[in-house]
Amino acid sequence: MSGRFIVFEGGEGSGKSTQAARLAEHLGALLTREPGGTALGARLRELLLAPPEDGTDDHGDGGRMAERAEALLMAADRAQHAAEVLAPALRSGRDVVCDRYIPSTVAYQGAGRGLDPVELARISGWAVDGLLPDVVVLLEVPDEVALARTGGARDRIEAAGAAFHRRVSDSFRAQAAADPDRWLVVDGDGSPDEVEARVRAAVATRWPDEVVDGGR
Ligand code: TMP
Repeated sequence: MSGRFIVFEGGEGSGKSTQAARLAEHLGALLTREPGGTALGARLRELLLAPPEDGTDDHGDGGRMAERAEALLMAADRAQHAAEVLAPALRSGRDVVCDRYIPSTVAYQGAGRGLDPVELARISGWAVDGLLPDVVVLLEVPDEVALARTGGARDRIEAAGAAFHRRVSDSFRAQAAADPDRWLVVDGDGSPDEVEARVRAAVATRWPDEVVDGGR
């Protein structure tokens, strides 16, 4: 017996955290996120996302966090999360909804920072001992909608600039196109209720024999 493993992906302001929470509630699934889904992960999240105090991306050592250090801290967070939370829950038959997973590393540290996406996927795959989601929901919203929703609150990675975030969005779209059996691309423009209905309809197509719409 294994639960369903559903991941939400999207850029800042895509509404994925809201929609992940709504779908988890609807399915009675465990809701979790990366980075930060464990006690160790919460500490790593702080290290990874603390906004630069003086705008120089300084982590107390007088320099920027190295791109490979950032990638490995994300992988460390993921390794702990998979071992402590994801795998045990899925093994026990529980459905899991996770806000971000390996595709975020491919998009942010790969397309965004410029590290090799194939190597990153391999490192993450090793970190989670091969645990892959059944479905990845990509919420797509126009840039101006995302911008209006984020309202200026910026963590270290969110602050990376428009060109960086364009590369991230392009990477998510390319990953979805390359693996259409796993990915569901959902229009995230609209009210939370409208988007939720689209997400449920899309997810239902992957488990037509099971009750997805109706609470379980
Ligand atoms: P959040 O906005 O979903 O809370 O995610 C936190 C930030 O972490 C967001 O800016 C994206 C970034 N991130 C990566 O850069 N790589 C990753 O692998 C993950 C999971 C998140």
